[in-house]
Amino acid sequence: MVKATRLTSKQKKIINRTEEYVKKTLLGEGSGHDWWHIKRVQQLAITIAKKEKADMFIVRLGALLHDIADWKFQTDRTTTSGMLIAKKWLSGQSVEAGVTKKVCNIVENSSFKGAEVEDGLDSLEGEVVQDADRLDAMGAIGIGRTFAYGGFKDREMYNPDIKVKMAKSFEEYKKAGQTTVNHFYEKLLLLKDRMNTKTGRKLAERRHKFMEQFLQEFFAEWEGKK
Ligand code: NI
Repeated sequence: MVKATRLTSKQKKIINRTEEYVKKTLLGEGSGHDWWHIKRVQQLAITIAKKEKADMFIVRLGALLHDIADWKFQTDRTTTSGMLIAKKWLSGQSVEAGVTKKVCNIVENSSFKGAEVEDGLDSLEGEVVQDADRLDAMGAIGIGRTFAYGGFKDREMYNPDIKVKMAKSFEEYKKAGQTTVNHFYEKLLLLKDRMNTKTGRKLAERRHKFMEQFLQEFFAEWEGKK
């Protein structure tokens, strides 16, 4: 398959329909995985894809569908259901099988499953989408999203008595993160070293530094030093 960095008019139509579909499904979702997260991830993924010369059609479909049924909100808490929804949607759009397969791999494998858990992404396009998704969990946006998610889950913002836990399995990760500030140590500050692409790594540096500064201020204020 030839990697195309520009979309054909048929591909543009499919992207537009997919945007409408995802927007309708996720608009108003209250936990930080709403339509605007998808929109930001798509934009970041486009930026990275251009530099990394990834296939733009696959990257955009993957970015748009990557949270279509986020495992955190599924009753069985698995990643399979999102992949099946994506597959059904793409077959309804007459997307060719090779593309569908790659997009489904992205939907199934792009989310973070714990500090020491490997994922099964099998394409550059998947790596681009994963980098974009991880970048949106970092920096100013990442901080905002983390506190919004903590509120959604009724978590304490911070509790010095609850220690940070590094997850060694997906099961452990699902149980961890008892406070919002711990989540920075259990996930967000690890993301910088888990970027797949050179462009992703570069973008992550700045966002990482900003989170470190934020935490420094947070603890100084917590202890009444500032
Ligand atoms: Ni996401």
